Amino acid sequence: MQIKIDSKALIDWYNNNKRALPFRSTNDPYKIWISEIMLQQTQMKTVIPFYEKWVNKFPTIESVSKSKVDDLLKSWEGLGYYRRCINFYKASKIIIQKHEGVVPSNYNTFKSLPGVGDYTAGAVLSISFGLPIPAIDGNVKRVMARLYGFKNLTRYNENFIKKVIMRILKHLNPCDFNQSLMELGALICTPASPKCFKCPISKNCKGYQSGYPTNYPKRKVKKTLPHFNVVTAIIWRGDTFYIQKRSEDKMLGGLWEFPGGKVEKGETLELALLRELKEECNFNGRILKKATSIKHRYSHFSITMHCYYCDENNEKIISISDSNWIRKSQISQYSFPKANHKIFNFLNKHDWTI
Ligand code: ADE
Repeated sequence: MQIKIDSKALIDWYNNNKRALPFRSTNDPYKIWISEIMLQQTQMKTVIPFYEKWVNKFPTIESVSKSKVDDLLKSWEGLGYYRRCINFYKASKIIIQKHEGVVPSNYNTFKSLPGVGDYTAGAVLSISFGLPIPAIDGNVKRVMARLYGFKNLTRYNENFIKKVIMRILKHLNPCDFNQSLMELGALICTPASPKCFKCPISKNCKGYQSGYPTNYPKRKVKKTLPHFNVVTAIIWRGDTFYIQKRSEDKMLGGLWEFPGGKVEKGETLELALLRELKEECNFNGRILKKATSIKHRYSHFSITMHCYYCDENNEKIISISDSNWIRKSQISQYSFPKANHKIFNFLNKHDWTI
């Protein structure tokens, strides 16, 4: 199917309307790369302050590679999807050890780094080095699906979109063209209410011509998220409480948390907590009182976290590695998942007293 994309009109529109994003004033591949990693599954307005603080604190890939992963996770705290941070750290080490500190501009070499997929490789290499490689994110897929009237983003249609963009990139500035498609998707060709009257390429757009652009591509039916009950303990020893680090291979790996875990079918909350404390810390503690329950949504499930004040009941927990007893003033030295911060907020409002 041949559709003429008025690339010149699109790039003109981009040059006149693009947002002044902090990573648009550089072509440093390290900075472009970290911005693209942060932007995966995360909104622009959330990313910008994190990006600015990050590049201030870690101005080079070498500074990342020399940092402790705990310090990096502290800077990532609140951004979510922490595996991105751990993978970036691993990749930074490889760049220093194998590539003399230089971000590789070869597609296959760059894509072989931890956390780098097709999109990230295309975005970084086209924006930093001007290489003619497509960067097809969700926004670009939507723009192209509407343009070509694709209801379904089948593998065939996605390959077709890639080929069309590759052909265009041979003749245009790849940094600008790739970003103009992303920007059009973010500002004009939005999921629910596209502003077709402002679109520089609506003339040949099948979605626009149909009168129902939002039918393209067909929206996926949202699945209801599974829900879990989770129990956690604030175990006091004097003015300190017990925290432990999640293992790196788990979701939220590398972050700290109160001990606890999922409630099993048929279990009461209290028995589930005592079981989890025994399994995780070999601890036969005593539950003193319920502190609070909070709700939290992750991308693929939601939880209600029930938190209890506990003590050691004269039987000291033998601290395992990756655990600590901390005062509340030390919370800021550790990175915790958002759900834990909700508990901290509750405790701060109630003076941390039972
Ligand atoms: N989303 C991810 N990267 C982007 C970029 N460079 N411009 C606009 N939106 C983006």
